[in-house]
Amino acid sequence: MAAALLFIAALMAASYTSSEAVQPKASFEDNFSIMWSEDHFKTSEDGQIWYLSLDKETGCGFQTKQSYRFGWFSMKLKLVGGDSAGVVTAYYMCTENGAGPTRDELDFEFLGNRTGEPYLIQTNIYKNGTGNREMRHMLWFDPTEEYHTYSILWNNHQIVFFVDKVPVRVHKNNGEANNFFPNEKPMYLFSSIWNADDWATRGGLEKTDWKKAPFVSSYKDFSVEACQWEDPYPECVSTTTKNWWDQYDAWHLSDEQKMDFAWVQRNLVIYDYCKDTERFPTLPVECSLSPWD
Ligand SMILES: *[C@@H]1O[C@H](CO)[C@@H](O)[C@H](O)[C@H]1NC(C)=O
Ligand SMILES: *[C@@H]1O[C@H](CO)[C@@H](O)[C@H](O)[C@H]1NC(C)=O
Ligand SMILES: *[C@@H]1O[C@H](CO)[C@@H](O)[C@H](O)[C@H]1NC(C)=O
Repeated sequence: MAAALLFIAALMAASYTSSEAVQPKASFEDNFSIMWSEDHFKTSEDGQIWYLSLDKETGCGFQTKQSYRFGWFSMKLKLVGGDSAGVVTAYYMCTENGAGPTRDELDFEFLGNRTGEPYLIQTNIYKNGTGNREMRHMLWFDPTEEYHTYSILWNNHQIVFFVDKVPVRVHKNNGEANNFFPNEKPMYLFSSIWNADDWATRGGLEKTDWKKAPFVSSYKDFSVEACQWEDPYPECVSTTTKNWWDQYDAWHLSDEQKMDFAWVQRNLVIYDYCKDTERFPTLPVECSLSPWD
């Protein structure tokens, strides 16, 4: 009798807590692991903000535990402020943890600068180990003052890099087997901070001032709507139109996005490999695909 009553009380307690409990936000450990130097990683007290720091010893990086094929990937970042010349904060997707010879990769890199000088973002796209598809943009805000959202839309028709919902770069597929559009392998999402004063700021002229270390970039609000890759029979292999990121509307920019994109093209592009005929006397084939289609 006493046992039965206890059992009922336990049941009631269980149903009470499950209906009352607020769904806890995912913690870092649920979805990410540290790639290197655990001691250069910190979270806020509530676990929702993540800090990566770089000093003379080392930088730091994390990656998702899951990999994905196609979807919408988004995170808010606040970059190292003050004198950050030479420091690169990277936020990218890649098929592997490393610079392997057959990797696919989609990069956002934030190139620091001397105090008061503008940050640049560099984007790049690798397929099967080959990149050389750099673009550089200025931003229309100071990315060290507030959090801004950086996102990637990836489906079989286009890859679009967004800054606060503004499309800054569009990379189109041509619907054929090709060597420029990564679409076969699933990718993990990565983030890291490191010293790149041999190339990053004014082509390597500005060196990292280690007296200003540690350099800290902050991350929050990781959000992914994507096909999660599960070996050995991944559901994401066949492209379906079940998910919004695979659907017709996501195959090209909307009219509003086209206006934003045109404004970015006119005002913020510093470098575009598709315009660099000195480097590519014959421009790569993807350069002839229109971002407006
Ligand atoms: C994050 O981890 C949780 C717990 O393992 C999992 O259910 C969820 O699908 C993961 N989210 C993403 C976006 O991978
Ligand atoms: C990818 O690159 C590797 C090594 O560079 C090469 O052997 C292979 O044929 C390439 N695969 C495709 C599909 O182009
Ligand atoms: C840094 O600032 C200089 C001077 O304003 C500018 O020319 C350069 O493009 C900026 N960014 C980088 C990454 O060099």
